[in-house]
Amino acid sequence: MRLRGKTAIITGASSGIGEAAARRFAREGANVILSGRRVNLLDGLAEDIRANGRLAEYIAGDVTNPEHFPALTELALATTGRLDIAFNNAGIMGEETPVEDMSAENWMSVISTNLTSAFYAAKSQIPALKSQSGGSLIFTSSFVGHAIGLPGMGAYAASKAGLIGLVQVLAVELGASGIRVNALLPGGTRTGMLASGAEAAIASLHALKRMADPEEIASAALFLASDESRFMTGSAMTVDGGNSITKS
Ligand SMILES: NC(=O)c1ccc[n+]([C@@H]2O[C@H](COP(=O)([O-])OP(=O)(O)OC[C@H]3O[C@@H](n4cnc5c(N)ncnc54)[C@H](OP(=O)(O)O)[C@@H]3O)[C@@H](O)[C@H]2O)c1
Repeated sequence: MRLRGKTAIITGASSGIGEAAARRFAREGANVILSGRRVNLLDGLAEDIRANGRLAEYIAGDVTNPEHFPALTELALATTGRLDIAFNNAGIMGEETPVEDMSAENWMSVISTNLTSAFYAAKSQIPALKSQSGGSLIFTSSFVGHAIGLPGMGAYAASKAGLIGLVQVLAVELGASGIRVNALLPGGTRTGMLASGAEAAIASLHALKRMADPEEIASAALFLASDESRFMTGSAMTVDGGNSITKS
């Protein structure tokens, strides 16, 4: 019960890594505030979590909408009186296109979903964390744009690298307030984000020669959310099956 009595916001909770983290955080005692656009998936997940005795509420909304994050924070405060953790995890890959052929619409869509949303998230979450003298902010970045340049992923790589810069600044701005801020960098993970049929090629990029299950990334998010990582802030934590050190 590493998160007993804590309240966590989790974005991208309707599937994949976010869904696995919501289930895991709740099993560890957290009450969870869920975000995504697919309302039926959020509803089913919240039902499952409530059936196991934790509070679970959700707002179906778009992370590119500046009003979505204040609404999530207000829901956390209204239902549980606190906010301790935010796993800002929602993201999209966008078009796989070389930069010279990439549409400006794709660039803007990926940057606003993956990076500008993090700015909105932090702005709304920081005052709530400050008011109770601390907490943990986690942003899902990627091995793409950190250790590896993958062709066709210019917007995605830029957005995920940008998150690491934002995390470093937030960590120094908020450290004295007891707020820790870290980036989580998963390797290839079996979720709906990756095209089916690409598994063997993606697995080969990793030293472990396999992809992760979402639960393995959720375990790392739990570590960053919990007091077990209490001396970690400003980190870009790879959980990548050795992807970043593999050249063969
Ligand atoms: N899978 C990988 O190999 C991998 C590797 C490194 C990093 N990541 C990162 O991990 C995070 C989670 O991805 P995943 O692999 O778990 O894929 P996923 O199953 O496709 O999950 C993406 C989540 O983001 C939400 N989302 C996307 N756009 C949104 C928007 N505009 N507004 C609100 N929610 C939005 C989706 O919810 P709705 O569709 O319901 O809105 C969904 O819950 C992403 O940031 C991704 O970049 C993934």
